[in-house]
Amino acid sequence: MRGGAPLIVAIDGPAGVGKSTVSRRLARRLGVPYLDTGAMYRALGLRVLRRGIDPADRAAVEAATAEAAVSLRPAAEGRYEVLLDGEPVEAWIRTPEVSEATSTISAHPAVRRRMVALQQAAARELGGVLEGRDIGTRVFPETPHKFFLTARTDVRAGRRFAELTAAGADLAYEQVLDDLERRDHRDSNREDSPLTHDASYTVVDTSDLTIDEVVERMAEAIARISAP
Ligand code: DC
Repeated sequence: MRGGAPLIVAIDGPAGVGKSTVSRRLARRLGVPYLDTGAMYRALGLRVLRRGIDPADRAAVEAATAEAAVSLRPAAEGRYEVLLDGEPVEAWIRTPEVSEATSTISAHPAVRRRMVALQQAAARELGGVLEGRDIGTRVFPETPHKFFLTARTDVRAGRRFAELTAAGADLAYEQVLDDLERRDHRDSNREDSPLTHDASYTVVDTSDLTIDEVVERMAEAIARISAP
């Protein structure tokens, strides 16, 4: 952190690209908080599912999420824990059903407006490594530290499959691949803040790199840009 301005690192990219692991490690290395913005949208996706609302029903979703209290509580190692109406929801938000519902509800503009305001407020004071889909395009477009992580689709689906089966889920690889492609397509083609990047981003293909190598490259790029 230099010159009083908090360090903001924006990390965007599709599902299964390694964003969470890389972001957590990079944040620890830089000594700033880590914010998983997808978890905030997932908390709202969970609420919509619990209420039996169709995620595509924009009016019903916006009403159900307008009254939801999503908040962030500082947790271990500089992480923020996401609370939904005061309840820690991490244990419930990683299922395929919540992933699918979240991708749909996050296309609704009123949902995005609220989450973006919360994310900006959280990071404005202390800075942070923020990961999501629109961090460098919408949440903190002014930061010079923007990364777009990519990886081949088969690699991303393989990682997601390994994660889900390790957590005890019983599903086929093809199912995971289908879900991932459908979600990416939706996240990249919605009207409000689609997943995208421009020349202001450093693109890192993580397909054939270890986590350490990805973190190293990013830390080097940040140091280069921050150097006087
Ligand atoms: O990163 P993730 O897979 O946990 O994100 C879950 C969903 O949330 C994703 O399909 C799209 C949405 N999302 C978003 O629209 N904007 C963000 N900044 C983060 C996530």
